[in-house]
Amino acid sequence: MARLLITGATGLLGSNLIRQTAGSYEVIGWSRSCTAIPSGCAMDRVDLANAEITARCLDERRPDVIVHCAAMTDVERCEREPDVAHLMNVDATRILAQWCVQRGARFVFISTDSVFDGTCGHYSEDDLPAPVNEYARTKLAAEAAATGLLPDALILRTNFYGRNFKPKLSLAEWMLEKLARGERLPAFADVRFNPLLTDHLGRIILDLIAHGAKGVFHAAARDECSKYEFALLIAKVFGLQADEARPELVEDFGFKAQRPRNTTLAVGKLAHFLGRGMPSVEEGLQSFKQSLGIDYMDYLATLKGSGSKAPQALSAR
Ligand SMILES: NC(=O)c1ccc[n+]([C@@H]2O[C@H](COP(=O)([O-])OP(=O)(O)OC[C@H]3O[C@@H](n4cnc5c(N)ncnc54)[C@H](OP(=O)(O)O)[C@@H]3O)[C@@H](O)[C@H]2O)c1
Repeated sequence: MARLLITGATGLLGSNLIRQTAGSYEVIGWSRSCTAIPSGCAMDRVDLANAEITARCLDERRPDVIVHCAAMTDVERCEREPDVAHLMNVDATRILAQWCVQRGARFVFISTDSVFDGTCGHYSEDDLPAPVNEYARTKLAAEAAATGLLPDALILRTNFYGRNFKPKLSLAEWMLEKLARGERLPAFADVRFNPLLTDHLGRIILDLIAHGAKGVFHAAARDECSKYEFALLIAKVFGLQADEARPELVEDFGFKAQRPRNTTLAVGKLAHFLGRGMPSVEEGLQSFKQSLGIDYMDYLATLKGSGSKAPQALSAR
C-alpha cells in the first residue's frame, strides 16, 4: 500500500482528508502540536519551520505522496509577522518539495483562491495571480517554490468549509452556531467565493492523485455566493431563521491585511479532467448537513467557542 503523508493533519482539511483515505493508503499525519489526533493514521509531531527535523522525519517515514495542507493560515498574523509566515508557508514547502525531488515522491500543494486580487472573479488557471496580502503572497511564493523544483507537482487552489477536528470553528460552523442560537451574525456582503465542503474537496484530491494529475487546478463549487448569501443558504438548508444575519462590508472591520473581494474560481479544467461537474454551494451544504447526521442540533451543542469571536471564520481567507 502506498504511503501518504498529510501535513496539517489536525487542521480543517487535513483531518477530514485522513478520514477519507482510510483503507486506500497507509496514512501518516503530521502536525506541530498533535494536541488533537485524528484516528486512522500514524501521527508525528513535526515542526515544519525546523528544516533539519523535517528532513529527518521525512527520511524516517519515506512517503510516496505528500499532501501538504499545513500552513500559517491566520491572515492577520501573516500580515503582522511576515518573516514567520514566509518560514512556515514558503520555506517549509520548499523543504518538502526538495525531499520529493530527491526521493521521487509525489507532491500535492494546497494553495488558495486568495492568490488573486479579487477584482473580477471567475479566475481560471491561466489568469495571473496578484496577491493583496502577506498570507496570499506566501502561498503564491510556495506554489512557485514547489513547481520550480517539481514541475510535476499538483497545485490545488481552493476554498473550503467543513467540520473542524480541533476546537476551532470553521466559517460554516461559526455561522451555523450563530444562526442556531439566534445571535447576531455579521457576514460580508462584498466578499464572493465558491467554497467546497471538505468531503468533496478530499474526494477531488484523492481522485486527482489517482489520475496522476499535475500542474495547477482550481477546486471550487460550480456556482458562487457572497459570505452573507452563504449564511442565508446555511439557514435555508438547516431550516433556521436568518433574521439576525447582517450584511456587512469588509472595509468596516479594520483588518490589517487587505482582503480580495471576489476570488471565485472557474472549475472547467477540473471538471473536464475528472469527467464530472462540481457540486453547487447549496449541494455542498446539503451534504454537510447529511454528514452531521439527522440530529445536528446535538452537533451544534458540541460546537466550541460559543459566544466568542471567530477571527478565522470571519477572516476572508
Ligand atoms: N480553510 C480555507 O478555507 C482555506 C482556503 C484556501 C486555502 N487553504 C489552505 O488549505 C490548507 C489547509 O487549511 P486549513 O484551514 O485546514 O488549516 P488549519 O485548520 O488552519 O490548520 C493548519 C494546520 O497546519 C499545521 N501547522 C501550522 N504550523 C505548523 C508548523 N510550524 N509545523 C507543522 N504543522 C503546522 C497545524 O498544526 P497544529 O494544529 O499542530 O498547529 C494544522 O494542522 C492550508 O494550506 C491553507 O493555506 C485553506
